[in-house]
Amino acid sequence: MTRSLQNKPLAIINNLNVSFRNGKLENQVLFDVSLELFENEILAVVGESGSGKSVTSKALMGLLPVKNAIITAKELSVMGNDLQFLKGQDWSRFRGSVISMIFQEPMSSLNPTITCGHQVAEILEIHTKLSNKDIKTEVLRLFEKVKLPIPEQTFNKYPHEISGGQMQRVMIAMAIACKPKILIADELQQH
Ligand SMILES: Nc1ncnc2c1ncn2[C@@H]1O[C@H](COP(=O)(O)OP(=O)(O)OP(=O)(O)O)[C@@H](O)[C@H]1O
Ligand SMILES: [Mg+2]
Repeated sequence: MTRSLQNKPLAIINNLNVSFRNGKLENQVLFDVSLELFENEILAVVGESGSGKSVTSKALMGLLPVKNAIITAKELSVMGNDLQFLKGQDWSRFRGSVISMIFQEPMSSLNPTITCGHQVAEILEIHTKLSNKDIKTEVLRLFEKVKLPIPEQTFNKYPHEISGGQMQRVMIAMAIACKPKILIADELQQH
């Protein structure tokens, strides 16, 4: 798609630098990263292990640790919102419905104490006004969409009771539940 024919980018990263503080030491891991993502566009970010793909994604999601991450950028914005000024509550509205991420590590991203169905249902409870019955129907529809076997059974299973590939499908269902404008897939495995 020709970019010049389009309007403003959905996401802009302009000269993003990220360092992690460890005591008195600072370790810079991103050096002037810039990218633009337009509507209806699939943008692939490629780089060797440790080069900063996940850190870049987490910066866009506001998920870098506030304690030790130092973030500077000429611009870091999603749909015209300057992410550097987004506060806690704004972030929870933003994440899920505007921008969402399928994380690299399913084991550490799913809550081991909550059934798969309820983890997806929670997101719909936060972001929609659907009734409990409609939420369950929607979760089952999402589970079918991501090709989870026997959605009714998966709904009541805990993450440790399903396979790694199935966990990743649950994460995909969570990420797409609120139809975000931007979906970040951090290293999707083929299962
Ligand atoms: N929370 C953190 N605290 C300190 N350093 C971190 C943190 N998160 C990431 N890093 C460091 O930032 C660098 C970039 O890591 P990142 O996870 O973005 O790499 P990646 O490109 O996603 O790699 P991979 O392909 O292996 O997933 C690495 O050196 C990593 O050790
Ligand atoms: Mg990574």
